[in-house]
Amino acid sequence: MTKKRPTIILTGASRGIGHATVKRFSGAGWRVISCSRHAFSDKCPWPAGPEDHIQVDLSDPDNLGLAVAEMRKRLDDEGGRLHALVNNAGISPKDDAGDRLDSMTTPMHVWRHVFQVNFFAPIMLARGLFSELKEAGGSIVNVTSIAGGRVHPFAGTAYATSKAALASLSREMAADFGPHGIRVNAIAPGEIDTAILSPGTERLIEEIPLRRLGRPEEVADTIFFLCTDQSSYVSGSEIHINGGQHV
Ligand SMILES: NC(=O)c1ccc[n+]([C@@H]2O[C@H](COP(=O)([O-])OP(=O)(O)OC[C@H]3O[C@@H](n4cnc5c(N)ncnc54)[C@H](OP(=O)(O)O)[C@@H]3O)[C@@H](O)[C@H]2O)c1
Repeated sequence: MTKKRPTIILTGASRGIGHATVKRFSGAGWRVISCSRHAFSDKCPWPAGPEDHIQVDLSDPDNLGLAVAEMRKRLDDEGGRLHALVNNAGISPKDDAGDRLDSMTTPMHVWRHVFQVNFFAPIMLARGLFSELKEAGGSIVNVTSIAGGRVHPFAGTAYATSKAALASLSREMAADFGPHGIRVNAIAPGEIDTAILSPGTERLIEEIPLRRLGRPEEVADTIFFLCTDQSSYVSGSEIHINGGQHV
């Protein structure tokens, strides 16, 4: 019998860190099931892209439920096994002028929307895919942020609090999923060169010990490490990927 490829499900695959992560796993021979709101684009050069892309709006819990059912159906082809779930999709809304929304100005519906995408969607996916992750002895990576641990000049309050909550959730999940053989970790990027960055981020570079932005591929490499046997005893940690910015 031929050995099946390991499989990863990754949210927010269409740009930035997610895009680089698909390329990293796909290049290492994994089957990648990607998801985001947009349809698969032919700008994405990995094989089996259109067939393995699921369009889902993570801000809509009903739509997310349907997507989980579709994911589980697709995992049947892999013997019902899922080796990695990467909760990467995230949003960071600004006000109409493009400025930061703080704790006094963030409309409550915006705050709830951010929490649904950045915080509730990851746990809904992890719970929905629990048996497949358990079957494979899989690994979950939640993408948090440096903004979860300190006030950030551009990232707003809803974003920061959702990422702090996701970091805490990652610890809780490591405790709960660990006895089932599933590792759970978080990665907290700093300023990575993607579309999510605000104008003016260049000014932050002088405060970063490595004096440069990070590259999406550098984040993808850490996610890959956390999803493979190289990190087989790592669970419940949050790895900073920020050139030393947090010091
Ligand atoms: N870049 C940084 O410096 C940085 C720093 C700290 C943390 N992070 C975190 O890293 C992760 C990736 O960031 P990025 O910079 O690569 O962001 P990005 O370029 O803005 O990409 C975000 C991804 O999330 C998807 N997405 C957004 N809303 C969605 C929704 N409602 N349903 C489904 N998918 C949705 C987008 O796809 P569609 O538009 O097709 O839906 C896109 O693929 C995020 O969690 C972010 O908070 C980034």
